[in-house]
Amino acid sequence: MVERLGTLARTHTCGALTAGDVGTEVVLLGWAHRVRDLGSLVFIDLRDRYGLTQLTARDDAALVEAAKRVRSEFVVAAVGRVERRAADAVNPKMPTGEVEVVLRELRVLAEAKTPPFQIAEDAAASDETRLRYRYLDLRRPRMQQNLLLRHRVTLAVRRYFDAQGFLEVETPVLTKSTPEGARDYLVPSRVHPGQFYALPQSPQIFKQILMIAGVDRYVQIVKCFRDEDLRIDRQPEFTQVDVEISFATEELVFGVVEGAMREIFRVVGREIEAPFRRMSYQEAMARYGTDKPDLRVGMPIEDLSAVFADSTFDVFRDAVASGGAVRGIVVPDGARSSRRVIDELVEQAKALGASGLAWVRAPDGTVQGSILKAAGEATLRAALDAAGATSPDLLLLAAGEPAAVSRMLGQLRLSIARKAGRLKPEDLAFLWVVDFPLFEWDGAERRWVSMHHPFTSPREEDLGRLESAPGEAHARAYDLVLNGSEIGGGSIRIHDPELQRTIFRLLRIGDEEAKERFGFFLEALEYGTPPHGGIALGVDRIIMILAGEVPIRDVIAFPKTTAALDLMAGSPSPVDPRQLDELHIRTVAKADGPGDR
Ligand code: AMO
Repeated sequence: MVERLGTLARTHTCGALTAGDVGTEVVLLGWAHRVRDLGSLVFIDLRDRYGLTQLTARDDAALVEAAKRVRSEFVVAAVGRVERRAADAVNPKMPTGEVEVVLRELRVLAEAKTPPFQIAEDAAASDETRLRYRYLDLRRPRMQQNLLLRHRVTLAVRRYFDAQGFLEVETPVLTKSTPEGARDYLVPSRVHPGQFYALPQSPQIFKQILMIAGVDRYVQIVKCFRDEDLRIDRQPEFTQVDVEISFATEELVFGVVEGAMREIFRVVGREIEAPFRRMSYQEAMARYGTDKPDLRVGMPIEDLSAVFADSTFDVFRDAVASGGAVRGIVVPDGARSSRRVIDELVEQAKALGASGLAWVRAPDGTVQGSILKAAGEATLRAALDAAGATSPDLLLLAAGEPAAVSRMLGQLRLSIARKAGRLKPEDLAFLWVVDFPLFEWDGAERRWVSMHHPFTSPREEDLGRLESAPGEAHARAYDLVLNGSEIGGGSIRIHDPELQRTIFRLLRIGDEEAKERFGFFLEALEYGTPPHGGIALGVDRIIMILAGEVPIRDVIAFPKTTAALDLMAGSPSPVDPRQLDELHIRTVAKADGPGDR
């Protein structure tokens, strides 16, 4: 039977009581986590988001009977007296483990169906079941901690930016397409048949317009929407700390962001070191095979082309002669690896697209290696020296198209480091990646596309040759990388309308199209635009790292699956045909058969 809360008021949370409260009359409200029925004695662990407290029903037969009827996840009100537990019943692992509440009254405020899984960290339940019953999964302490962490981080961010003179301004959610490289989510207009709003991929254009409007320093903790392929660190709707600053330089933006990161990490009691390291995009790609290097480990990729250019090993020599490269990584303490381990590395390299992987070592001074006969001892010794490998190390070598070799070795490097347990979640390696190319060539579309977005300023020294050598122009763009994860990206913007038009032209966005898509922005640029720049930080990814490298959905209260489904709410879903009529929309059944598209 369900009873009423009435005028009962909570005196303490379930995480609060200690030996100092012995003798106090208390009222606790929460969920029955676990019920243990010992006949004349019943224990109920009462849970709320603050912790667990043991309730004890004894002596009073009616009360004991009432406690026996309580099932897991019932919501109960407990009235009783705090008592010290018997010495052998003290639980030192629980903050409230020294005490129990001996019940005087117990009210069941709500019953609960048997949950599909136990509210416990190690409960056996599929991801689908957890997401379907998200409200139950969120009752887990770990998830509650993640929600709390997220709250504290966004609070710290707001406080920090406020203290720095930033204004939080809300930008529209029903808006126009913003080019961030993903597909848009569209919202049909009822009152304007055949017309659509787009949900923002980011507030990029609006924050730039706020600079034109004189806001000077803008910040917003904002939802962004991108219809793109989902991965472990991507969600279709995610949150940014979006920042824009008038009269900004790279140094100014870096300083503001480093300060923000310092406050964010203080939330978890960590002091971080700033300024962060910087690396050019080119160096990142060549030496780590990625634009987001994880610098928790060293093992950079070394270019050894010069060593093999004139060697007797024709595979490497020919690779260099035909414009390729020979590159390698040094595996610290790898010289003692068994043949089986080395064979596995070779297989892995092949799976990553390499035509082969050579290895060299000299554990006791004599050179050994898979290409010893072909390349000769002197060359291999020179390779070990050039790579900085010493006797305990193993040198892995590959040849081919330079970017492809670096990409493969970069992945191998991470895999080796991960297996050796050297990518520790508690280590923090921040990195600014700078000097990005302004454009990249889209082979499929046969045109240049912006590497960041089309509002990114080229470097001053590249302005004269934008049209003659677009591929060589560099951007005033920067990414913030933490432990191999891109947690932010931004740039100094174009504030000259003429230059903005030139960039659109180079991107083959015709005048008409530019006017249609960004006309309002191009017009705004004409009315006195201060030089400006900014950045957006990925809140979800930052919390993932703070929470100990959990999947992105564990730091979002109501996430989507990798198939972009909300399993709890059941979205997306069909809608009432009348609604579609009102929106002037007719859907077409998708034909799956080959040739039907
Ligand atoms: P960008 O597209 O680099 O830049 O996004 C900024 C940061 O947002 C995070 N992020 C995501 N997080 C989760 N799921 C996603 N699908 C997702 N996509 C991006 C990343 C990324 O670094 N308007 C520009 C910023 C600017 O130029 O100021 C922008 O949105 O951590």
